[in-house]
Amino acid sequence: MSNAEDHDGTRRDFIYYATAGAGAVITGAAVWPLVNQMNPSADVLALSSIRVDVGAVDPGTQLTVLFQGKPVFIRRRTEAEIADARAVDLSELIDGEANNENLAATDPATDENRTLDEAGEWLVQSGVCTHLGCVPVGDGAGDYGGWFCPCHGSHYDTAGRIRKGPAPRNLPIPAASFVDETTLQLG
Ligand code: FES
Repeated sequence: MSNAEDHDGTRRDFIYYATAGAGAVITGAAVWPLVNQMNPSADVLALSSIRVDVGAVDPGTQLTVLFQGKPVFIRRRTEAEIADARAVDLSELIDGEANNENLAATDPATDENRTLDEAGEWLVQSGVCTHLGCVPVGDGAGDYGGWFCPCHGSHYDTAGRIRKGPAPRNLPIPAASFVDETTLQLG
């Protein structure tokens, strides 16, 4: 399949738009090298905010979008993922801080402080491992059912919190908010 066909396929699956200029969307960490090769121009890298249509994201699936040159995971979690994350005793966490740009720096890493909505369905987080910057794989990967970074073996749970391995911090949560029911703004 050619790159052009790949791109068309992606566009059929999801609608994605930016406040200015062109953007890129990918559907999983595995295709990150392809996006990397697309060499986004300086104006795309510099966008201070983008809007993403998440209307087609079903529970148990996720989108990966490129924001300011880096991948951001947008996951719509299942009831089971939410329950798992909320059952975790905070004393078990390696990084006890939410690492959420929308909250105070020292707010605790409760599941509620990691998600965008009160019900905990939407988890929006950086797709860059806090160890040395690889892109973790998702969709229930690793020992904690969240994300796994195969570079050096870091396991993140269903709230993106580091649970095992060399990564020191929970996956960072960028400034994000819903503009309407199906439109998410990053930045
Ligand atoms: S970069 Fe992820 S574990 Fe090392």
